Amino acid sequence: MGRLGARPDPVPIMTSADLDLWIFGYGSLVWRPAFPFAERCPGWVEGWARRFWQASTDHRGVPEDPGRVVTLVPAPESRCWGMAYRVAPDQASSVIAGLDHREQGGYRRVAVDVRLPQGSMLSGAVMYLATEDNPNYLGPAPLAEIAAQVRRCRGPSGPNAEYVLRLAQALRELGASEDEDEHLFELAARIGPS
Ligand code: SIN
Repeated sequence: MGRLGARPDPVPIMTSADLDLWIFGYGSLVWRPAFPFAERCPGWVEGWARRFWQASTDHRGVPEDPGRVVTLVPAPESRCWGMAYRVAPDQASSVIAGLDHREQGGYRRVAVDVRLPQGSMLSGAVMYLATEDNPNYLGPAPLAEIAAQVRRCRGPSGPNAEYVLRLAQALRELGASEDEDEHLFELAARIGPS
């Protein structure tokens, strides 16, 4: 994990009756999981940074005017806060099927280790990652340009600005440090309240 542009192997769907599935969300999954879960806890993944470098043509934009949503990029000195969800074994297959559909705009399943504030670690959580070889990958742009695009765009799931502002708010609420994610919080400040 963590190599720029690497295409990690897809994570197999867990179907064992004994195994809980953990899902780590760092974007819309932080504030709108929209799937059944048994528990959730804030946590972070190490070596990754959140970036609005992925186009959204199906949720926060349209093919003629794509919005910008987050993916993670390798960043050895960074950590990225998000939310880990435990899904009961009997719901794992349907939750994964629903997320595969929701995240079909360039994301793929990878396995990550999630650190929890209590000091423990969840090994092999499922995370949806949009690597730079996917067709909707936009890559970096000046923050002013990203802000203008986000202000302008909307898609079937709503305004692109709502995605940014709700993500920033949710991360503040779970205790993430703004200093550790200047890209997100600076963007949210440029966009302002919706
Ligand atoms: C995620 O939330 O973890 C994936 C990206 C998104 O749906 O915004």
